[in-house]
Amino acid sequence: MAADAASSSPPAAITCRAAVAWGPGQPLVMEEVEVAPPGAMEIRVKVVSTSVCRSDVTAWQSKAQPDLFPRIFGHEASGVVESVGEGVTEFQVGDHVLTVFIGECQSCKHCVSGKSNMCQKLGLERKGVMHSDQMTRFSVKGKPVYHYCAVSSFSEYTVVHSGCAVKVGLTVPMDRVCLLSCGVSAGLGAAWNVADVSEGSSVVIFGLGTVGLSVAQGAKLRGASKIIGVDTNPEKQEKGKAFGVTDFINPNELSEPVQQVIKRMTDGGADYSFECVGDTGVVSTALQSCSDGWGVTVTLGVPKAKPEVSAHYAFLLSGRTLKGSLFGGWRPKSDLPSLVNKYADKEIQVDGLVTHDIPFGDINRALELMLESKCLRCVIHMSQ
Ligand SMILES: NC(=O)c1ccc[n+]([C@@H]2O[C@H](COP(=O)([O-])OP(=O)(O)OC[C@H]3O[C@@H](n4cnc5c(N)ncnc54)[C@H](O)[C@@H]3O)[C@@H](O)[C@H]2O)c1
Ligand SMILES: [Zn+2]
Ligand SMILES: [Zn+2]
Repeated sequence: MAADAASSSPPAAITCRAAVAWGPGQPLVMEEVEVAPPGAMEIRVKVVSTSVCRSDVTAWQSKAQPDLFPRIFGHEASGVVESVGEGVTEFQVGDHVLTVFIGECQSCKHCVSGKSNMCQKLGLERKGVMHSDQMTRFSVKGKPVYHYCAVSSFSEYTVVHSGCAVKVGLTVPMDRVCLLSCGVSAGLGAAWNVADVSEGSSVVIFGLGTVGLSVAQGAKLRGASKIIGVDTNPEKQEKGKAFGVTDFINPNELSEPVQQVIKRMTDGGADYSFECVGDTGVVSTALQSCSDGWGVTVTLGVPKAKPEVSAHYAFLLSGRTLKGSLFGGWRPKSDLPSLVNKYADKEIQVDGLVTHDIPFGDINRALELMLESKCLRCVIHMSQ
């Protein structure tokens, strides 16, 4: 009887370790934070693994929203459901989940359109709070701590909306599948859903981080015949080959603009170009590198500065298309399970993108490695 009473009583607040950013670019500080119980339609997740995405680093360094500190970053994560809020029927305690930075409510105009993953209710959250009540679920010494993308996985426990989590099988390795929660899926989806790369085509990818290498993998699986990787870091040449890159260009080693070299290599311009750097100048270069008539440029990067894109009007008049995507156009609940199955069936590579396994206590090392361009994905092991 006592056990029954305990299991039906509402979950209480939890105190746990979280890596808190107190200001833009300031090293994260391990703090004891209080994590509120999940609200209606929310779940509280014990984070098992979280990998560090360039978007975390860009947002952590950005001085654009100084009021959103202290803040807990992290959005590429796997975990176990610890408790569920009122009204949640999809998840049970013990389920394994991936968190997602854009959710799927399955009922708004975009979710039912079948054409978009820009959910109107659970879309990209920019104010550092929960979608439902614009409040935070974290506090440190009584002071609210802001969220990031309504995920905040740099904490041993976090609260997410049930629409921002996707169930995964109990046998997929949690410390690798977390990469499908953002970077790998974003790249594969850009190639498959957004550009719809065709067999025998030519592709150019600017930036060979986890996102760009995943675009390369997606293009290779579609049978692209030429996949040109462009990166200012010469070490990306070897890594690129493993993911399907057939030709490598370091723009710093050229005596002419990179788009001219690409035009020569592709008889006038690539069929598809992808921006995976986070630099709007590179978006213009990518557009200049694709073909008249049918060339498609897909931009994925999150710019650190200068969000405006400039492009000569003539590129559009001559039939080129510029488009962008978040999370590769995938609708997380509808589409992510099939990607997880592809990983389990070894149809897509994920493990080769993990360059470092790091205990939670050393999380600042992962941020430093990314700033120094010495890693692809660092996986943070929360229990270490
Ligand atoms: N749209 C989405 O859904 C989505 C998802 C995840 C990440 N992102 C964004 O995508 C971008 C890439 O993410 P990542 O995690 O792979 O980052 P990353 O930092 O690991 O990779 C970026 C790569 O670009 C290279 N680079 C830097 N400047 C360059 C230049 N001028 N020309 C060519 N190469 C250059 C770097 O050497 C590096 O290899 C970031 O802006 C990130 O915020 C977007
Ligand atoms: Zn929706
Ligand atoms: Zn990300």
